[in-house]
Amino acid sequence: DDVSARISAVIAELQHLEGPMLPILHRLQEEFGYIPEVAKQIIASALNLSRAEVHGVVTFYHDFRAEPAGRHVLKLCRAEACQSMGCEPLAETIKAKLGIDWHETTADGAVTLEPVFCLGLCAQAPAAMLDGELHARLDEDCLTDILAEVRS
Ligand code: FES
Repeated sequence: DDVSARISAVIAELQHLEGPMLPILHRLQEEFGYIPEVAKQIIASALNLSRAEVHGVVTFYHDFRAEPAGRHVLKLCRAEACQSMGCEPLAETIKAKLGIDWHETTADGAVTLEPVFCLGLCAQAPAAMLDGELHARLDEDCLTDILAEVRS
């Protein structure tokens, strides 16, 4: 079908690389927004691996999604500087408000929550990124704004 054909085309293009698995997976994620389940078997056959090996790589790297992301992607920094400025309690608040855990998407498809490890805003921790836009010195007020934005 169409999806398999697109997957095969990506593999054909990148297969010659040394260590082609990650480049292939990154390209598929770019194209589809996630790694289609069927891709694991197709990659495995092409690279002479088992499906389980491909699955292991996909699940090891949290960058790869198993399903499409929500309309908004909220990434919260969980690295050291943000930890020391209280990102974890903020994360708990967000999770409770959205009713989801890390790597999950709200039932209405509005927002996906992901951890990141340092956004380069350590001096203005805690930090987050919403749809590619940085937010520094997060507090409950900013969070309320961010959540209102993703809900609208
Ligand atoms: Fe959070 Fe660097 S530790 S931005």
